[in-house]
Amino acid sequence: MLIDWEKKFETGINRIDEQHKQLVAIINKLHENIIIQKDGSSVNGLLMDLKIYTIDHFTTEEKMLKKYKYPGEDDHIKIHQKFINKISENLYDVNSAPLAQGYQLIEFLKAWLMNHILIHDMEYVTHFKKHHTFLADIQTDIL
Ligand SMILES: [Fe+2]
Ligand SMILES: [Fe+2]
Repeated sequence: MLIDWEKKFETGINRIDEQHKQLVAIINKLHENIIIQKDGSSVNGLLMDLKIYTIDHFTTEEKMLKKYKYPGEDDHIKIHQKFINKISENLYDVNSAPLAQGYQLIEFLKAWLMNHILIHDMEYVTHFKKHHTFLADIQTDIL
């Protein structure tokens, strides 16, 4: 397994944590297929899944950024958009793509997600906690 889910990745917002776990699961599957089994045949399908789940997750987050008036909203959205563009570029011809490209892709995805959760997502969590309705919202699980 490439990425083990750890407590430090938890934001405390159930919906966000479940979505982050889904993204980790897809990256682990890509790692399993490319690096362990050296099978590129399902890579594009998994990258499409990653794109769909990522867009869904970013939409959830961006609604919250607005709701809790996060001052870094614009920058955070830009970082999300850049990542979507990057995944889109990485759809490649699995029959001719060298395995090295797969290694690079996996390393990039892992580093990006870990860094994004631990630094950028945790930053909005700190801000949300100061918002007067946030703590009540997560307790009633309406997020
Ligand atoms: Fe996130
Ligand atoms: Fe984010």
